[in-house]
Amino acid sequence: MNKPQLLIARDVYPAVVEKLEQVFEVETTPEGVVWTPAQLIERLQGKDAVLTSGSERIDAGLLQACPQLKIVANLAVGYNNFDLSAMTAAGVLGTNAPGVLTETTADFGFALLMATARRVTESEHFLRAGRWKQWSLSLFTGADVHGSTLGILGMGRIGQAIARRGAHGFGMRVIYHNRSQLDAATEEACRASYVSQDELLSQADHLVLVLPYSPDVYHLIDAGALAKMKPGATLINIARGGIVDEDALAAALREGRLAAAGLDVFEGEPAVNPSLLSLSNVVLTPHIASASVPTRLAMVMLAADNLLAFFLEGKALTPVNPEVLKNSG
Ligand code: DGY
Repeated sequence: MNKPQLLIARDVYPAVVEKLEQVFEVETTPEGVVWTPAQLIERLQGKDAVLTSGSERIDAGLLQACPQLKIVANLAVGYNNFDLSAMTAAGVLGTNAPGVLTETTADFGFALLMATARRVTESEHFLRAGRWKQWSLSLFTGADVHGSTLGILGMGRIGQAIARRGAHGFGMRVIYHNRSQLDAATEEACRASYVSQDELLSQADHLVLVLPYSPDVYHLIDAGALAKMKPGATLINIARGGIVDEDALAAALREGRLAAAGLDVFEGEPAVNPSLLSLSNVVLTPHIASASVPTRLAMVMLAADNLLAFFLEGKALTPVNPEVLKNSG
């Protein structure tokens, strides 16, 4: 029997390719290559499956041009690259990679918070530039993390993992806002209290964005929301760039209304808004919150396991539109 045809749309670990080659006819992607939408459609001709990074847009146009496609397995937990209703309408299953990156991403969220509040990268640049002439009392003084109020917008797995770090590790008061309030046992484990979005904005010393992206939250943190934030607060975004109006954020940072921001994600990434690049009170990282070696391997392995489960057993481990499986079953 002919093997199903698979495109791995990004360069991934050889161990994953080898595993998939046992079941699929695999086309890989060279290191450093990111296919344009037109190139992706070309590569997907005749393909039954594709393993994506989370950046490749899967929309109605692509689905129409690739009628053989049955499954798209994202190696990311976020799947805002999927037009989910178009995929479901076309009978194409989508899967993501939840769970395996939770703790690693929370570690990084905390690292970014620490670096931002305590001005780690700004002071390092100063030192490397040979500008450090003497110790002084006020040199790069920042905000305290321990004992401060940590605000978390989006209290899924990663939000909860950040809350635990803040509450148990740093003695922070943790408040959160989410589409729905967590059950009492989970709130207790995170030592976190549910507040309204406005209360979150006005009370947090450090506000961390960890909510999933959808068009509903586009520029949720706009000039109005930023104006409600506590003066001198810090803002950390490890969710998706489109949630923050970057021009409004740059203005708030420039005017000193916010002390600093730590951003791992950007609206037009990999391009970064020039107004952010010109500010010293912003810590900027290239979407690496989940980037530990074991976690990145686990993310790709989960995507691979979804592909294998689908073709070998007619199911998926982490489907995002499971109704496709029911309809085909
Ligand atoms: C995710 O998994 O969604 C991360 O942001 C990596 O893309």
